[in-house]
Amino acid sequence: MAIRNVREMGDPVLNKICKEVKEMTPRTLELIDDMFDTMYEEGGVGLAANQVGILKRIVVIDVTGEDPVLLINPVILETSGEQVGNEGCLSVPGKAGVVRRPNYVKVRANDRELNTIEIEGTELLARAICHEVEHLDGHLYVEKVEGGLKDVEEIEDEE
Ligand code: NI
Repeated sequence: MAIRNVREMGDPVLNKICKEVKEMTPRTLELIDDMFDTMYEEGGVGLAANQVGILKRIVVIDVTGEDPVLLINPVILETSGEQVGNEGCLSVPGKAGVVRRPNYVKVRANDRELNTIEIEGTELLARAICHEVEHLDGHLYVEKVEGGLKDVEEIEDEE
């Protein structure tokens, strides 16, 4: 188990476009395991490879803490509905903001053996898939925030 350093907003690697994974190697398998370890350790629900400085199209997500999802080379095929809610990111610590997202997402990706899979998500999983796929294209949720970025404590006070 290895925890990798999570890059923070302002680090140029977060604005880079990640590259397709064309073959699975021991090094990439190790990266995937480290990404899960890092996400759980940091208390996040998702992590993209460029957040740990690696420009590969790999994301890990777990919205319940017991439902790990690995998406390699993810492509969003379908979205529908809408949800509006607070969102945060391990690369923007202590902050959150309101982002509008689809309430349903269907994504095609590769699994650990590079087989093609399709996954559907609603609510938080749909939100996480959109958020993480955008990371792979160099985008952060802060670009989409409505009403400005807030401190997490400020939001907790409102609730
Ligand atoms: Ni993020």
